[in-house]
Amino acid sequence: MAPPAEGPADLVVVGLGHVGLPLARSASAAGLRVLGLDVSARVASGLGAGRSHVGGVSDADVTAMLGQDFRASTDPEIVCGARTVVLCVPTGLVADGGPDLAQVEAATSEVATRIGPGTLVVLESTSYPGTTEEVVRPLLEKGSGLVAGQDFALAYSPQRIDPGNRKWGVENTPKIVSGYTTDCARRAVAFYSPFVKDIVLAKGTREAEMAKLLENTYRYVNIALVDEVALYCRQSGIDVWDVLHCAGTKPFGFGRFVPGPGVGGHCIPVDPRYLAAEAERQGFSFRLLDAARQVVDAMPGHVARRALGLLDEHGVRRDGARVLLLGVTYKPDVADIRETPARGVATVLAESGALVTYHDPYVDRFHVGGTALPRATGLDEALTSADLVILLQPHACYDLGALGRLDRPLLDTRGAVTGRFVTTL
Ligand SMILES: NC(=O)c1ccc[n+]([C@@H]2O[C@H](COP(=O)([O-])OP(=O)(O)OC[C@H]3O[C@@H](n4cnc5c(N)ncnc54)[C@H](O)[C@@H]3O)[C@@H](O)[C@H]2O)c1
Repeated sequence: MAPPAEGPADLVVVGLGHVGLPLARSASAAGLRVLGLDVSARVASGLGAGRSHVGGVSDADVTAMLGQDFRASTDPEIVCGARTVVLCVPTGLVADGGPDLAQVEAATSEVATRIGPGTLVVLESTSYPGTTEEVVRPLLEKGSGLVAGQDFALAYSPQRIDPGNRKWGVENTPKIVSGYTTDCARRAVAFYSPFVKDIVLAKGTREAEMAKLLENTYRYVNIALVDEVALYCRQSGIDVWDVLHCAGTKPFGFGRFVPGPGVGGHCIPVDPRYLAAEAERQGFSFRLLDAARQVVDAMPGHVARRALGLLDEHGVRRDGARVLLLGVTYKPDVADIRETPARGVATVLAESGALVTYHDPYVDRFHVGGTALPRATGLDEALTSADLVILLQPHACYDLGALGRLDRPLLDTRGAVTGRFVTTL
């Protein structure tokens, strides 16, 4: 691992993952002296050797960052003297499905003892309204002996990055920025302005936190809506994809969402739970979220049962049937399998005795219930030896025309393929 460069940094990014690394890249490209802190030695040493572990950030990007004096380290001492510290650590769920702020708390406490007068600390992790002021602020004040808004600046700025999106990145996606005080907000705007084109100033940190949750909850609820519409259309003999095409031509008042095998990733299935849990704590019930969750959570099982029905229709015994999953990531053309619905699909199929394999150029290993699912590397061979193919994610590398010409059943969960043996959701 490369040693941390000498002297204090303009910016220390804490948590060099899907959010932190692109942020570090943008700030570094804008000429800021950036250091990165991560608890993972693998992450820090990989970056030090010029290797990116995040899709959308290339090895060449990391090499360019290293050329700009970027260093990644596991040593929290690199925070000392930094002008700005941005926290980009995960916010997951605890076993009962509630918010898990353990990593935000751990990172904040590490940082707290190392900030000084004048430091700007920004939280970018997604969380419920109140996290910045009620969770992060007390930890920073306790660890540093300084007062937020007086001795150091505190801000919240949600990250909107969309992994795999080539059009919208850190620089050109409008960024919501908020501060604990007006001065804190001003500091945060000044920090982001050199590398983010449009800044949207929120009234306060709670508004900014809530705005992020609204954005992802909006996606969640609308995905649930089109999933349920797809189930209804199927029962009623209506082509849901044609419905979506027609409705999608309305130039106002309709945002197009598409059905699929379920939601995944680290945001869409998780963030609405932050909102629901915090609201519940305050005695408020988000009924729409409960309904959406029921629909979305049922989709992988629905896909698996459709697949089993197709096997029956084609006279293939479920027990021992060879089922090939195409694309096990949570969305096309990313390498992320967190919360992927493919896991639920594979589980139900395997429980029914099917021999499930997968093909995915982005995923070397895919575990389901503690067992590694066999991976097919040669696509053509895998397709011709399967009794049933399920297209979960239409990665750009898949030839959809060729899939449509297959001489065996294909269940297309994305409405991407047409063909004689193709069945859609
Ligand atoms: N992934 C996305 O598309 C996305 C988009 C917008 C917002 N977010 C939010 O951003 C936050 C970060 O998500 P992510 O996807 O980048 O996570 P990630 O898992 O990709 O990366 C987080 C990194 O933080 C490191 N880390 C954990 N605890 C740490 C600590 N105490 N100190 C230093 N490093 C620590 C981990 O080792 C990891 O490398 C989450 O709140 C997430 O909800 C994610």
